[in-house]
Amino acid sequence: MHDFDYKDGRLCCGDVPLADIAQAVGTPFYCYSLPTLRRHIQAFEEPLAGVEHQTCFAMKANANLAVVSVMARHGLGADVVSGGELYLALRAGIPASKIVYSGVGKTDSEIDMALSAGIMMFNIESGEELEVINARAGVMGKRAPIAIRVNPDVDPRTHPYISTGMQKNKFGIALEASLEQYLKAKEMPHVEIVGIDCHIGSQLTEVEPFIDAVERLKVLIERLSRHGISFRYLDLGGGLGITYANEEPPHPSAYARAILEAVGGLGLKLVFEPGRVIVGNTGVLVTRVQYRKQTPKKTFIIVDAGMNDLIRPALYDAWHDIKPEQMRARDTEQVDVVGPICESSDFLARDRVLPVFSRGDLMAVMSAGAYGFTMSSTYNARPRPAEVMVDESRYFVVTQRQRYEDLLSGQHVPEEIMGR
Ligand code: LLP
Repeated sequence: MHDFDYKDGRLCCGDVPLADIAQAVGTPFYCYSLPTLRRHIQAFEEPLAGVEHQTCFAMKANANLAVVSVMARHGLGADVVSGGELYLALRAGIPASKIVYSGVGKTDSEIDMALSAGIMMFNIESGEELEVINARAGVMGKRAPIAIRVNPDVDPRTHPYISTGMQKNKFGIALEASLEQYLKAKEMPHVEIVGIDCHIGSQLTEVEPFIDAVERLKVLIERLSRHGISFRYLDLGGGLGITYANEEPPHPSAYARAILEAVGGLGLKLVFEPGRVIVGNTGVLVTRVQYRKQTPKKTFIIVDAGMNDLIRPALYDAWHDIKPEQMRARDTEQVDVVGPICESSDFLARDRVLPVFSRGDLMAVMSAGAYGFTMSSTYNARPRPAEVMVDESRYFVVTQRQRYEDLLSGQHVPEEIMGR
């Protein structure tokens, strides 16, 4: 459920017409609903009430400072995958003790940063990484809290680019090898084994793969305990899907019920790393039609948002609903909605039957709150769009649209390369 609906024929976020925001801040812009965000946090947390757990929002889905500050306010932690995300999470007020750090390529300086901050745990993705973390912690006179990210080899039945828990993926450590790594970690002076972790993929629309993963982890946990290895956290990653078109993913309460049942009485504190399910449907991308263009094969609706603003359709052939800002009786037609970028993959929708759009009309690209702005770039020297948060009848610009000057930020032309 979200907060983007028609009122008097105009598409609104809460009580604010998107056209009013467009008028004030220009297009394209991302618009997030604060009440929806709060509701989604609650929907995830409620079924876990009374269960010892920590939800660590996956920052990669939406790292907006205001959005993440709301998470912090509601007691959520963060799942980070870079020094930059760690920095942003801390700046948003998430305590280090609620931050887990995943990712296959943590650099020495990122590891040092996380050790100094005192994060909850490192999710280790390879044997070499484990050794490096032990060494860095030694240099710093600390003990690094670690979990092994286990790759349980289950098929999440999602898009291949966003599946992570299969043997062919680069993520995590295979079950058998994980046991070896735990045994090594146990002997290391500067690491402390605090948990076990897995994340099998994203946009999952069934609970079974999650349950399969839990079952496999349980077997490993049992084997580890026979080796005298026990710990506090069971991190089950993120991955719960949302409805973009007509997917019917389990509700967070059904997901929680199934997981709790599968976990049984292990007595471990559960960690979750949801991203998309919290923020995906809290946001839309609003864009304005620049031109219509007819070719012998197609009708193109050319808008002022491109793949640099929302890359999911280009990268995953992802389907995002498109809603006209004005609900009025009009014909429909089959079109491609494309941006201004010089790439044929620059589309927001292809072969889509939509109401007829004309130059100047606004449209909302729905379900863009996750992996929208965070994956945006300045390709084609396009300033990144503004981000706006709506709270019922008020709206706030939470990220200014970049200016042309920002495109030059950090750049410098050395005198030495000029002249002659
Ligand atoms: N934890 C880890 C270790 C992850 O790698 C991910 C996502 C998450 C948690 C959060 O997953 P979620 O709950 O959002 O499904 N850019 C793609 C999605 C990539 C997901 C990568 N990992 C997209 O736009 O669909």
